[in-house]
Amino acid sequence: SDRPRALSGIQPTAGSFHLGNYLGAVRQYVALQETHDAFYMVVDLHAITVPQDPADLRANTRLAVAQLLAAGLDPQRCTLFVQSHVPEHAQLGWVMNCITGFGEASRMTQFKDKSAKQGADRTTVGLFTYPVLQVADILLYQADAVPVGEDQRQHIELTRDLAERFNGRFGHTFTVPSPHIVKETAKIYDLQDPTVKMSKSASTPKGLVNLLDEPKVTAKKVRSAVTDTGSEIVFDPAGKPGVSNLLTIFATLTGTPVADLENRYAGKGYGALKTDLADVMVDFVTPFKERTQAYLEDPETLDSVLAAGAEKARAVAAETLAAAYDRIGF
Ligand code: ADP
Ligand code: NA
Repeated sequence: SDRPRALSGIQPTAGSFHLGNYLGAVRQYVALQETHDAFYMVVDLHAITVPQDPADLRANTRLAVAQLLAAGLDPQRCTLFVQSHVPEHAQLGWVMNCITGFGEASRMTQFKDKSAKQGADRTTVGLFTYPVLQVADILLYQADAVPVGEDQRQHIELTRDLAERFNGRFGHTFTVPSPHIVKETAKIYDLQDPTVKMSKSASTPKGLVNLLDEPKVTAKKVRSAVTDTGSEIVFDPAGKPGVSNLLTIFATLTGTPVADLENRYAGKGYGALKTDLADVMVDFVTPFKERTQAYLEDPETLDSVLAAGAEKARAVAAETLAAAYDRIGF
């Protein structure tokens, strides 16, 4: 393929993806299938950096794959696989660990946040080197573009630094990738506290929209979203973070420019906006939930998608790993 390469990964979290994952990342995965030679994976190696239950991990990995398919990934147009099915990730991960500075890794803000949450006694070395494994994930596929949300920007910077370092020391081996961050949806906020990003670990239950919640529950969360003082519906992220977040979600899910929404709701008040957005959300999550369920009920299809994906991914990853091994003297 003469298309540029795209690569991204998503964790197999319990329950379901949330709206931030979908708008910030998965939507871009779907779009880039059309323009890129795209590789997407469920990153189960990353999931074991925090305590996990084996049966849950197995189920959550399949659930993540089912959701990616339900969101619109098409195995005929992209390569969809599970990270642990391709052993080259761990192999190149080790190489990358050996060219990463300890201080450099210590500066990763996600590690600082996550390790603070785990506590020192429960923080693993795996959690510490997770961004370096992510570097290997990306470089193995010679990716040009990495679709992610804003919170991943620092990790993509590390990827660029390590690719350039390796290339400089050992000769050109890796493509230096760029983050593909869609500004409008790079950071979706908690519905109850629109100053913090929506996240599985930090959001309050009412502020977190899980894509597989009962649609009724989702509608209720949207209708009870925190808005701001005043009553005017204008896009002003600094002054009106709550309303601006709702406008972003509404605009993206319906393909309507924010300015058109501002006009439509001029003089109408927050209640009307929230009621209509609740309907939009229900129309989005209802078929999503049905499609996810259908994939889960068809394990043969899921297995064959993943087997074919792993084979395609491995062909690319093995070639890159062989080149890297050769350059470093193995
Ligand atoms: P989480 O951040 O909830 O732990 P992941 O780390 O698996 O989930 O993130 C998967 C993708 O979703 C990443 O590309 C990340 O940048 C993106 N993402 C996560 N939360 C948000 C958010 N609130 N807004 C936009 N994108 C997000
Ligand atoms: Na994240």
